[in-house]
Amino acid sequence: MSELSVNHLLGIKYLKEEDIQLIFETADQFKEVINRPIKKVPSLRDITIANLFFENSTRTKLSFELAEKRLSADVINFSASQSSVKKGETLIDTVNNILSMKVDMVVMRHPNPGAGVFLSKNVSASIVNAGDGAHEHPTQALLDSYSIREKLGDVAGKNVVIVGDILHSRVALSNIFALKLQGANVKVCGPKTLLPTYIESLGVGVETNLRKALEWCDVANMLRVQNERMDISYFPSTREYAQQYGVTKALLDSLSKEIVIMHPGPINRGVEITSDVADSKQSIILNQVENGVAVRMAVIYLLAAKIKK
Ligand code: NCD
Repeated sequence: MSELSVNHLLGIKYLKEEDIQLIFETADQFKEVINRPIKKVPSLRDITIANLFFENSTRTKLSFELAEKRLSADVINFSASQSSVKKGETLIDTVNNILSMKVDMVVMRHPNPGAGVFLSKNVSASIVNAGDGAHEHPTQALLDSYSIREKLGDVAGKNVVIVGDILHSRVALSNIFALKLQGANVKVCGPKTLLPTYIESLGVGVETNLRKALEWCDVANMLRVQNERMDISYFPSTREYAQQYGVTKALLDSLSKEIVIMHPGPINRGVEITSDVADSKQSIILNQVENGVAVRMAVIYLLAAKIKK
């Protein structure tokens, strides 16, 4: 396969396994580029990309921007807090105004699930979903799988547990779709109140005991509790959550095998993982960040190739 089956990256749900493999093979080449003294290629000199962030972000926004610049695209940035959205402008009006400045691609983070799909049906640019509410975060799942493939050689057949706030996490849902598509075995682990009731229908196992989940897995992807998406209390206290679902070095060392620790960031040190776990040699958290740039370069490059036709 030499081109993506989609014109937008709205969610992993819309991808085929071959799309993921094409993105990974392309990312391998870009990873080589970003480790050269001159970390830039001229591939997208004729493409303009708008990064529209209607929700806070640090690493995802920086990672996309860097990926775009490494491909030599022209980049404009927009944050909702400094914009006319506050004055009552609709999403389509905001985006159409930006597109009339001849923008080819829109990378968007938005608090509403489905915002990217909605936009793709109403505007002419290619859309990349950088996180839509608690729905999907496809580039995060792609960089997570890419990092597992890099560390363990393959994703197929690996046991991956996603630990934490599955209910409010777009990273969890996109990871489940991506891992299943590639043939990994997936379990989720967390307090019952943070595990959606439909989760088993996605073909994943459920384990509420952290030690048992860790004994089973090759990789544990530790997620942050999404306090900003909660309107009620889902567990008694952060301290109790950390005691039951936080990974400590003592717990890791007591397992019968060495597992890989991942985290999409931002980390709450001492809650979902302790500092010595985050900084241990079993953690690939900073590799995930590095791989994020290469994977996003691959996604943007492959989508841009479809625009030019
Ligand atoms: C995640 C997100 O924004 O969904 N972070 C990220 O993209 N690096 C996870 C989180 O906020 O916990």
